[in-house]
Amino acid sequence: EKAGHKHFMAKEIAEQPIVLAEAMTHYVQNGEITLPEALDFTKFDRITMVACGTAYLACLTAKYWFEQIARIPVEVDVASEFRYREPPIPARTLAIFVSQSGETADTLAALHYAKGKADMILSVVNVTESSMARDSDLALPILAGVEVSVASTKAFTCQLSLLSLLTLKAAQQRGKIDIGTAAKHLENLKKIPSLISHSLAISSDVKKIARKIAKAEDVLFLGRGAMFPLALEGALKLKELSYIHAEGYASGELKHGPIALIDNRVPVVVMAPRDALFDKTVSNMQEVMARGGKVLLISDAKGIAQAGQGVWETLTMPEVDPVFAPILYALPAQLLAYYTAIAKGTDVDQPRNLAKSVTVE
Ligand code: M6R
Repeated sequence: EKAGHKHFMAKEIAEQPIVLAEAMTHYVQNGEITLPEALDFTKFDRITMVACGTAYLACLTAKYWFEQIARIPVEVDVASEFRYREPPIPARTLAIFVSQSGETADTLAALHYAKGKADMILSVVNVTESSMARDSDLALPILAGVEVSVASTKAFTCQLSLLSLLTLKAAQQRGKIDIGTAAKHLENLKKIPSLISHSLAISSDVKKIARKIAKAEDVLFLGRGAMFPLALEGALKLKELSYIHAEGYASGELKHGPIALIDNRVPVVVMAPRDALFDKTVSNMQEVMARGGKVLLISDAKGIAQAGQGVWETLTMPEVDPVFAPILYALPAQLLAYYTAIAKGTDVDQPRNLAKSVTVE
């Protein structure tokens, strides 16, 4: 049932090109994003997104998309904080709950809190017969297929891909995007599955680097813009699977504290697709190097040619449109955690102290 893979996680990572392509085919027909008519973004002035763990990081990524492309303000909260803070929910709010299982206790309780207050409750789930799907006004499946490994991988990229389609739909309905730009974004999104498929070839490089990372006690992940949540995801995956202490930071926050941690024992993973903020990320990276930090630069060949001098290690990704780069860059984050866990001999599919579905708070 692991289809020739050593672990479910490896199988689920490898499945991403297929499930993502299938989900795109499901949601995009004849160049049109097909979503239920009930979902009308002209009815909302704001979005509140609530989730836990990796699903929360998918929401944080989507905030950049919704705000930049659809020009709709988004708040994102972890469910355990949202539910007890009991925030006021203004009129014309769409509340989106993202969960692989659809059963996470805190997210479900947050959904129940928002019911009757938000104008619409939308859940983005993998398990369509889940409690969240049942209790929502509308449930959209991410179509990732069963995810067994405790570490969420394909569910994350499928969540991102559906959230990016919701963004484009919102931008169209709200008149914030012209036909040509929308078509270009869709084309770029359609390319992601094959880019992920090609990028699986970085596995052998990742394996080599992971053997060195396995010796570290602390690892930092840095990213800017929509790559900041990806830095958080890289750190979460590494902690979860290898039990190495890891933190993700927005690159620009480095000098406000975390740079004090840098010395020659701390690998710093810099997630840097060549986007509008590339040069700023590189200058933060150089600050790390000037203090002896060991930088693993993840970028495309041009980015590495431009900024890779003197770095500790590099991983070369294919060129990708910067908007949806987070979906592609999830792959090196997943592979780093996977191979570091292998190097440390930890239980990849069932890390200590963790459950696949957290149904108690
Ligand atoms: O089923 P859910 O998506 O609601 O689960 C949320 C988190 O528990 C989950 O993403 C967790 O953080 C993963 N183990 C991360 O890999």
